[in-house]
Amino acid sequence: MKQRSTTRIPGKARTSSLTPGTGNSAADGQAAQTNRTKTVTVKKARGRTTAQHRWLQRQLNDPYVQAAQKQGWRSRAAFKLIELDDRFHLITPGTRIVDLGAAPGGWTQVAVKRGAAEVVGVDLLPVDPVPGATIIEGDFNDPDMPDRLTELLGGRADVVMSDMAPNTTGHAPTDHLRIIGLAELALDFATRILAPGGAFVAKVFQGGSEKQMLAELKRQFTQVRHAKPPASRKESSELYVVATGFRGPDGEGED
Ligand SMILES: C[S@@+](CC[C@H](N)C(=O)[O-])C[C@H]1O[C@@H](n2cnc3c(N)ncnc32)[C@H](O)[C@@H]1O
Repeated sequence: MKQRSTTRIPGKARTSSLTPGTGNSAADGQAAQTNRTKTVTVKKARGRTTAQHRWLQRQLNDPYVQAAQKQGWRSRAAFKLIELDDRFHLITPGTRIVDLGAAPGGWTQVAVKRGAAEVVGVDLLPVDPVPGATIIEGDFNDPDMPDRLTELLGGRADVVMSDMAPNTTGHAPTDHLRIIGLAELALDFATRILAPGGAFVAKVFQGGSEKQMLAELKRQFTQVRHAKPPASRKESSELYVVATGFRGPDGEGED
């Protein structure tokens, strides 16, 4: 088996001293929901827009943000994967995982922590090294990406997961189309590198126009489900599609 590395390609490597998920992370994630403390009120500061002020106020009062900081997860998003994995059992010891849209690295940390054999994270943005994982700084659409990934993983992937989000415009219908477009590209990518029986997880948004993607998912996978993990903010229309039982490049998987 290939040696696992903590490379960030290309660019400078920075290290993190935090060890994530020291307790039972899923339980901690649950506790994050209920252990609400006093509300922190942020004073209006000059130079801060109303949107920035609202964001800061929400961050400071978000139990998942606090729990993520306490447990050493790089993002509150880590809890979404923890919750999805608790429900769907995607990351089993020995699995080979591709994490699309990895920055700042929360999902990658979870995949390593839960025993994946090989984890490769890809993002347009730099990601600090995650011990036990390989990080590629680049666009997952690069033509050489499937080959690079299968080489790094030492074979086809068991799970392709995408928490990717495009830059938003603030115009909901446009943003919806962009995220669906990105999820469709991620699905096409996944079908090129998944092993038969593999799983695909991707962030999508509620609101029509994903019928075509759903039809393709059903064609390629034996089971397709949607989930909104508790860590996903209620006011957000974000949800995740979880497709399991990849039929294989030639549809050779089991029904
Ligand atoms: C919500 S963040 C992911 C958070 C991450 N799951 C975590 O737990 O830390 C979405 C990421 O998708 C990345 N992204 C968007 N389009 C991409 C693309 N074409 N290729 C690679 N990454 C992309 C963005 O740069 C961004 O960092």
